[in-house]
Amino acid sequence: MDEYLNIALPKGRLGDQSYALLKKAGLECPELEDPGRRLIFTSAENKVRYFWVKPSDVAIYVERGAADLGIVGKDILSESRPDVYELLDLGIGKCRMCVAAPKSFEDDFRGTLRVATKFTGCAKAWYGAKGRDIDIIHLNGSVEIAPILGLSDVIVDIVETGTTLRENGLVVVEEIFPISARLIANKAAYKFKEQRTRELAGRLSEVINE
Ligand code: PRP
Repeated sequence: MDEYLNIALPKGRLGDQSYALLKKAGLECPELEDPGRRLIFTSAENKVRYFWVKPSDVAIYVERGAADLGIVGKDILSESRPDVYELLDLGIGKCRMCVAAPKSFEDDFRGTLRVATKFTGCAKAWYGAKGRDIDIIHLNGSVEIAPILGLSDVIVDIVETGTTLRENGLVVVEEIFPISARLIANKAAYKFKEQRTRELAGRLSEVINE
C-alpha cells in the first residue's frame, strides 16, 4: 500500500459528514480535524490526502484526475454529468430536486412556462421529456424569490426540510428525483488503484449499514 488516495471533499456540512464516514472506514487524518485555513491535508499513516473544495467543483477535480475520489451530491452529478464512476450511495445529504411554485399556481399548459433555477440541465431534461415548452431563467441562488417577484412561474430547486419554500409561500408541485451524496472515482485512477478503492468502498458500505 504505497500509493496515496487523493480524495476531494465538499467543504461544508456534507464534507464534515463525509469525513466522519471516511474516518470510521479507516482513513483518519488528524490534520484535517484542526484545519485552520488550509485546504489540503495528509495522513502519511493512512496514506490519504484530502482536499476541501467547493461542492460544485468536486466532480471537476475527480473527472480531470486531480483527485482519485470525491464525494458529491446527486444533484451536481445529474446537472453536470461528469465522466466518472459513481461507486456508492453514501446515504447522507438527503434531499429532493423539485418543481415548486406559489400555492395558487396551476399550469394550464398554454404558452411558455417560465422556470427559474440553478439546475438548468435538470429542468430542461424534466420538461423536455414531457414536451413542455419552457423559458429557462438561470439564477445562482435565492431562487425562491423568482416567482414572488413575477420573474418566473415556477422554480426547480433542492428541497431538504421544506422550510425555505414554506417561509416564501411556495409549495412542491412535482418531485423530480431524490438526492443523496455519492462516492465517485476518476476512471483511470480507479484502474490503477482498484484494490484500495474497492476496499474503501467496501468499508464505507459497512460503516453506512452499521
Ligand atoms: C438549498 C436550496 C434551498 C434550500 C432548501 O440551498 O437552494 O434554498 O437549500 O433547504 P430547505 O428545504 O431545508 O429549506 P443551499 O442551502 O444549498 O444554498 P444555495 O442557495 O447557496 O445553494
